[in-house]
Amino acid sequence: MKHRLLLVIGARPQFIKSAPIIKEIITKHGSIDLRIIHTGQHYDPEMSAIFFKELRIPQPCVNLHVGSGSHATQTALMMQRLEGELIRRRPDLVMVPGDTNTTLAGALAAAKLNIPVAHVEAGLRSYDLSMPEEINRRLTDHCSTLLFSPTRNASSNLRREGFKTGVYLTGDTMVDALRAAMPFVEKAETAILNRLGVEPANFVLVTLHRPSNVDNPSRLGLVHRALRKVATKLPVIFPVHPRTRSRLNQIGILRQPKRRIINLVAPQGYVESLALLKNSNCLLTDSGGMQKEAFLFKVPCITLRPNTEWPETLKAQANRLITDPKRIAPTVAEVAFDAILRLRIRQLKNPFGDGRAAARIVRTVTNVLK
Ligand code: UD1
Repeated sequence: MKHRLLLVIGARPQFIKSAPIIKEIITKHGSIDLRIIHTGQHYDPEMSAIFFKELRIPQPCVNLHVGSGSHATQTALMMQRLEGELIRRRPDLVMVPGDTNTTLAGALAAAKLNIPVAHVEAGLRSYDLSMPEEINRRLTDHCSTLLFSPTRNASSNLRREGFKTGVYLTGDTMVDALRAAMPFVEKAETAILNRLGVEPANFVLVTLHRPSNVDNPSRLGLVHRALRKVATKLPVIFPVHPRTRSRLNQIGILRQPKRRIINLVAPQGYVESLALLKNSNCLLTDSGGMQKEAFLFKVPCITLRPNTEWPETLKAQANRLITDPKRIAPTVAEVAFDAILRLRIRQLKNPFGDGRAAARIVRTVTNVLK
């Protein structure tokens, strides 16, 4: 009899993290009956459908269409709708990647029905409980049976929290995903740079979507002012997350196209986003995944946050943490023209795995389910 594995995903980074696992199961593990549930946390085509297409993820068996809402509303609605699906489908294992509300809802709903949970990207800690993701990842880890850790550091975080069994150091599936995407990135890069009118290594890529950076109008105004300053020296390409778009709109910035010297573009798909990052001079971000992707491309990163769940990226100042928006322009100026920094970054070893994380994860799942 086949083992039933249910994968619960719903937000942009989860599509990327799970794509290599899905591919591994479909191509090599006929003993697993894989079903995908999409919670509907992300629903705009450029936040969801494009990733299914680019990453060749099969369509989910069901979309719960939960959509946006406050944390409690969104998480509760997901749990309520998931519970019915879990009772009906009775999977042998529920897999949840990452640290979004979808991750937590999937883990809680399954654990309460005594269905074992596998957490992909277990053990990350920023030790900052003001971030919803930190709450999600801690709680998810603590109701998981299988904890797939991407790095040594993540494994030791789990050991410190008392986990004695169930922790598997596999490497990070985002490395697998990035390697698989490279041929497509290489094919697409020239066209994207031409379309946006920028040259390799001669623009700053910006992605900002954390509530702590974009939800407070005065802080967002300061960030915007800083980006305008940066744009007087180097072109700025800013793919705008829908949360950020709505906040920029609220403070009137989207209504001033003539004064706009920052190139605000729609959220990019996976291949486009990697192509932009690979060719950028440096990245300014508050995303976790992009700090890591910058490290893998050896692109200097500036993170607008007081902490990171990826401390490995801080080595040799490959990634710098800043909190004050006034530091953005001077830090970009420091990083953008520092050839020695680039040399140092190029020599750093990759602590995120060898691109075979998905194979390890699926092998472990198969063994455990037997
Ligand atoms: C979520 C995750 C975050 C992840 C990010 C990646 C949580 C708590 N946060 O943040 O960890 O880094 O996804 O993108 O799970 N919206 C749309 N269209 C969409 C989706 C969202 O317009 O398809 C808008 C809505 O106004 C919504 C807002 O974006 O209220 C925020 O969406 P939400 O999923 O709640 O959180 P993210 O900021 O996307």
